[in-house]
Amino acid sequence: MKLPDYFHSNIKTDLDRLISTKPTPFLVVDLSVIEKRYREMVEGFPMADVFYAVKANPANDVVQLLVELGSNFDIASVPELEKVLSFDVEPSRISFGNTIKKKADIEYFYQKGVRLFATDCEADLINIAEAAPGSSVYFRLLFDGSATADWPLTDKFGCKANVAVELAAKAKELGLKPYGISFHVGSQQRDIETWRQAILATKAAFDQIKEQHNISLEMINLGGGLPASYIQHTHSFSYYANSILAFIKDSFAQDMPRILIEPGRSLVGDSGIIVSEVVLVTDKKTKPEYPDRWVYTDVGTFNGLIETIGEGTKYPILTSKEGNNKKVILAGPTCDSMDIMYKDHQYQLPDTLTTGDHIFWLSTGAYTTSYSSVEFNGLPPLTSYVVKN
Ligand SMILES: Cc1ncc(COP(=O)(O)O)c(C=O)c1O
Repeated sequence: MKLPDYFHSNIKTDLDRLISTKPTPFLVVDLSVIEKRYREMVEGFPMADVFYAVKANPANDVVQLLVELGSNFDIASVPELEKVLSFDVEPSRISFGNTIKKKADIEYFYQKGVRLFATDCEADLINIAEAAPGSSVYFRLLFDGSATADWPLTDKFGCKANVAVELAAKAKELGLKPYGISFHVGSQQRDIETWRQAILATKAAFDQIKEQHNISLEMINLGGGLPASYIQHTHSFSYYANSILAFIKDSFAQDMPRILIEPGRSLVGDSGIIVSEVVLVTDKKTKPEYPDRWVYTDVGTFNGLIETIGEGTKYPILTSKEGNNKKVILAGPTCDSMDIMYKDHQYQLPDTLTTGDHIFWLSTGAYTTSYSSVEFNGLPPLTSYVVKN
C-alpha cells in the first residue's frame, strides 16, 4: 500500500500500531500535514490573515497546533468559541462567521471580547447592533458556485449585492462599523473562475457602497473553498493562490483592502486517514447498472462519511490487500439504506478483499469526526487519534 508522500515518514508504523491496539473505525490525523498546509497557505497568501474554519476539524490537538502557528479563527457557535478561548486566543483573532445566530450568542461573543461579525440580513444586523454595539460587521454576498463545488454552500447564506449596500448604510446608522464583504464559492471548489466572479462582485459592492452611501469598506473575506486531494481533479494550491491574488490585484489595484481567508478543508482534509474494517463482502444483483459486488465496512455515512451523500465527495481509497480490481458498491454498517457511500461512482477494489481486511479512506481530515452521529444504531461518533513527525 503506497500512501501519498505528504504524510510524515513513519506514518505506516503509526497506522500499524493503532490498528493493532484500537478498534476500527477511527480517524488518524497527521498534524505534520496540517502544519505543512498552514505554512503553504501563509506563503501563498502573504498579505492575508488566515482564519481557520474550526468546524472542519475541531479536535483539541488541531486547534492547539493552529493557535501555536499563529492562525486566527472563524467560529460558528458558542461551544467553538469556548474551545478556542480555552487555548488563550485573544478575541481579536476571532470572527463570528456564522450568519445564522441567536442574539444571546452574539451577546456572549461580545462579552468575551469578539468584535467581528458576519451578517447577511437586517434582523441579524439589528441583533448585532443591540448585543454587540460598535462592532465591525461584514456582509456575506450570496454566491452560486454549485456547478463546480463538491459541497456547495448556495442559497442558504448571503444576500444580493443591493441588499449588502443597504445593510452597510443601516449598519452605520445603528452605530456599527461597516467593515467588509465576504463570500464562499462553495466547499471543494475546483473552478478558479468562480473566485474571479466572486471578487468582481465584491469590488462592485465596494464601489456601490462608496457611491451610494460614502462608506469605504476596508476588508474582503475570501471564505473557504480551496480544495483537498480527492479523486476529482483540482489544480495545485499555488495555481489557486496566484490566480486569486491576481484577481484581487486586477480589481483593487492600488486600493488594496485587508484580506481574510477562512480555510477549513484545504488545511485539514489531507491530514486524515480513516481506518475501517470490512464487515462483509457479498454478491447481489440489484439493478443492471450497478455492480453485483457489495463491500460493507464498519464506517459509513453516519459515523464519519456523511459527505459521501449524493456521492459529492469522492475520497481516495486504499486497501490492505492486493488483487485483481473489481467494481464494487461500498456501503456502511447501519440499518439504513441511505448508508451507501458509493454506487454510481464505482470504485474498483481487489477481488481478494474479505471480512476483517482494512480499507483506508484518504483525505478524511475535514468534516468527518465533526459530522459524525452520536448514537445512530448505537454506534459511537468516529474516534480520532493524532500523530506527528
Ligand atoms: C463561513 C465559512 N467560512 C469558511 C468555511 C470553510 O470552508 P472550506 O472547508 O471549504 O475551506 C466554511 C465552511 O462551511 C464556512 O461556513
